[in-house]
Amino acid sequence: MDTLAARMQRLGTESAFDVLARANKLAAQGADIISLSIGQPDFPTPPHIVEAGIKALRDGHHGYTPANGLPALREAVAADLNRRHGAEVDPDCVVCVPGGKVTMFFAMLMFGEPGAEIIYPDPGFPIYRSAIEFSGATPVPMPLREENGFAFSADELLSLITPKTRLIIINSPANPTGGVTPAEEIDKLAAGLADHPHVHVLSDEIYSCMLYDGRAHRSMLNYPDLRDRVIMLDGWSKTYAMTGWRLGYAVWPKALVEKATRLCINDHSCVNAPTQFAGIAALEGPQDAAIDMVRAFDERRKATVAALNQLPGVSCVEPGGAFYAFPNITQTGRSAAELQDALLTEAHVATIAGTSFGIHGEGYIRISYANSKENILSAIDRIGAYLAS
Ligand SMILES: Cc1ncc(COP(=O)(O)O)c(C=O)c1O
Repeated sequence: MDTLAARMQRLGTESAFDVLARANKLAAQGADIISLSIGQPDFPTPPHIVEAGIKALRDGHHGYTPANGLPALREAVAADLNRRHGAEVDPDCVVCVPGGKVTMFFAMLMFGEPGAEIIYPDPGFPIYRSAIEFSGATPVPMPLREENGFAFSADELLSLITPKTRLIIINSPANPTGGVTPAEEIDKLAAGLADHPHVHVLSDEIYSCMLYDGRAHRSMLNYPDLRDRVIMLDGWSKTYAMTGWRLGYAVWPKALVEKATRLCINDHSCVNAPTQFAGIAALEGPQDAAIDMVRAFDERRKATVAALNQLPGVSCVEPGGAFYAFPNITQTGRSAAELQDALLTEAHVATIAGTSFGIHGEGYIRISYANSKENILSAIDRIGAYLAS
């Protein structure tokens, strides 16, 4: 269709949604599918958060809000970042948007154009590359390796920077690997960026509350000298089991806040008002449910990794964060895509091929352990039976 803008040809997708649709179709035909594919907590949004959303509607909060978010919401975000990361954040630098993804697109619209280069993690969240390509910029993959526990190497990342690099994207804890980049490596990156003053950073910290074995999160907000170049993305979707509410935010450099807010005004006006009230309740209310959820994920994480490592041809490093395992399946003799398809159609287990997250994902599949321990273990049994057949 030559009436369509060329950029539409370059727009990618997130195959988790395709796998979900195929799994639902099989389920509608009567198959008993266990899904280990979708990246959302299987817990309900805590009741006090739901009540705050309902109350907001009852109280008549059904109109537009400021485009960047209610002041009380942005103040609650700043207070939360101070509590969690010890970072001083000006609430006026917080721009609330409908979900974590929106900030990615905004950053790509701001920095991406033909001739520009943007570095992104591979395997990584598929929307990074899709949005970079859409913008016309050249995507430059930064490989993540199993032998590093899927952490990125600051030296390798810095070595990919050229005079054309506008933006680098980092994500720790990471999707799809669960990899966590250690604080020393992030320190090294921050120090190295002093030599590249033309480069901005989009730090996707949406899994920063989901860390295991006593790991602490190192935020890119912890480097005051970089504040004028860091866009820190976070949100409510994962931490508070709020994927469908559509609420996320970024802390933007002061000089870009007005531009990000204009993008909000042009794109969606504001996040729906009751969701913003729910977001305030999430940050200011009791954190027990969020903490319990991470505890449950940790238990499932250990069970998942142990069970995967029993399977013929499969080996899995322990993920340090998020709710994904990324087992190596090369010894099964099947490609990632072949295994994803066979597991869905023959074992009735929905997983995602590592290649859905970039070429460096070949040889792996993503297992989301956002499902009950019982379902996870019976799914892994089914995978084992299929591999042994
Ligand atoms: C790394 C990463 N960033 C951002 C998002 C987007 O989150 P949201 O649903 O809030 O748009 C996801 C969702 O899976 C993710 O895995």
